[in-house]
Amino acid sequence: MTNITPASAPFSKPSQKPDDPRFSSGPTAKRPGWSVKALEDACLGRSHRSGPAKAKIRKTLELMRELLGVPGDYRMGITAASDTGAVEIALWNLLGARPVDVFAWDAFGKDWVVDVIDQLKVPDARSFEARHGALPDLSKASPTHDVVFTWNGTTSGVRVPDAGWISDAREGLTICDATSAAFAMPLPWPKLDVVTFSWQKVLGGEAQHGVIILGPRAVARLESHKPDWPIPKIYRITKKGRLDEAVFQGDVINTCSLLCVEDALDALQWLKSMGGASAAVTRTSENFKVLERWVEETPWITFLARDPATRSPTSVCLSFCDPDVLALNEEGRAAFAKRVSGLLDKEGAALDAASYRDAPPGLRFWLGATVERKNVEALLPWLEWAYGQAKSELRAAA
Ligand SMILES: Cc1ncc(COP(=O)(O)O)c(C=O)c1O
Repeated sequence: MTNITPASAPFSKPSQKPDDPRFSSGPTAKRPGWSVKALEDACLGRSHRSGPAKAKIRKTLELMRELLGVPGDYRMGITAASDTGAVEIALWNLLGARPVDVFAWDAFGKDWVVDVIDQLKVPDARSFEARHGALPDLSKASPTHDVVFTWNGTTSGVRVPDAGWISDAREGLTICDATSAAFAMPLPWPKLDVVTFSWQKVLGGEAQHGVIILGPRAVARLESHKPDWPIPKIYRITKKGRLDEAVFQGDVINTCSLLCVEDALDALQWLKSMGGASAAVTRTSENFKVLERWVEETPWITFLARDPATRSPTSVCLSFCDPDVLALNEEGRAAFAKRVSGLLDKEGAALDAASYRDAPPGLRFWLGATVERKNVEALLPWLEWAYGQAKSELRAAA
């Protein structure tokens, strides 16, 4: 932290830009080589309940099951309203039978706290929250309670390192929001009773739909427990007290976008051609290593995630640790971070790299499987340059 860039000598402007500057954490970069041609075979202008449309939806679900290694006795369905829709379907249908422990360490996890405690008012609900950068004490999860958590906190760049803290002998259900983790981090199915995600994260698919995956214990809960609160039609996955199996066999609750289905199918086929989910995990972690090495060698930037074991390799959140920046007030630090991300954006070196609006000021880069490593490598000199520029301006204004 001693190498403070002098105002008179900003880093020189690099000559080569990343071929693809899309580092946004959602929607994320499309897969390499994607063009609208990939959608030519979409089942457009047809009913989503027609034979060909259902065949597409089923194929998408089957490929997702294959690539994610979802056990045969877990149900998979497509929902409206993206990952939020899928998570809320789980919360609204399953909770209320026992106390709930909600763990939150990013903006989205905190939304689920609001759902469980303020909206559903589940009796005996407890929340365990941590500031951006840390994990709450997961050992507090009671095996007799239901547990709601986010595998990867997209806005803090903090993920759970594993699921060792979830009891194999649990009586409650685990409900895991795995958006920005699914396809990039292995998911231990026996520990997870409900998993949700959306297509616009690691798959780089078009946004609109969520995916909900229900294990046998979640299905047993659905069929034995009737929540005390109303369940809007868009969230209804039971019929006459039984699981509505059709919803998990390609019969969506309401009209889905067949264009988005085609796009998800294209992404899955690409993933399969690359070697499947394990190849996606490897691509992601190789991208992460490039940035991690640079952060370790660079005195003015650090990970928001304090414990290396919890650092997300998909949504990487960075903070400025330059003492001159840390000496600024909150507004000044936010302006500095905004200036750096603004320069990257203006130059077309990295688009949408500002930290999430509720997160501490800094930078955030999506490094999931659709991002090419050479683009992460090409980004590094631009980061040096943008920081140097912003730092010179800061010095000049002092
Ligand atoms: C961890 C997590 N949960 C939920 C959401 C909300 O997702 P969606 O916009 O797909 O509803 C996001 C979005 O980035 C997320 O990162």
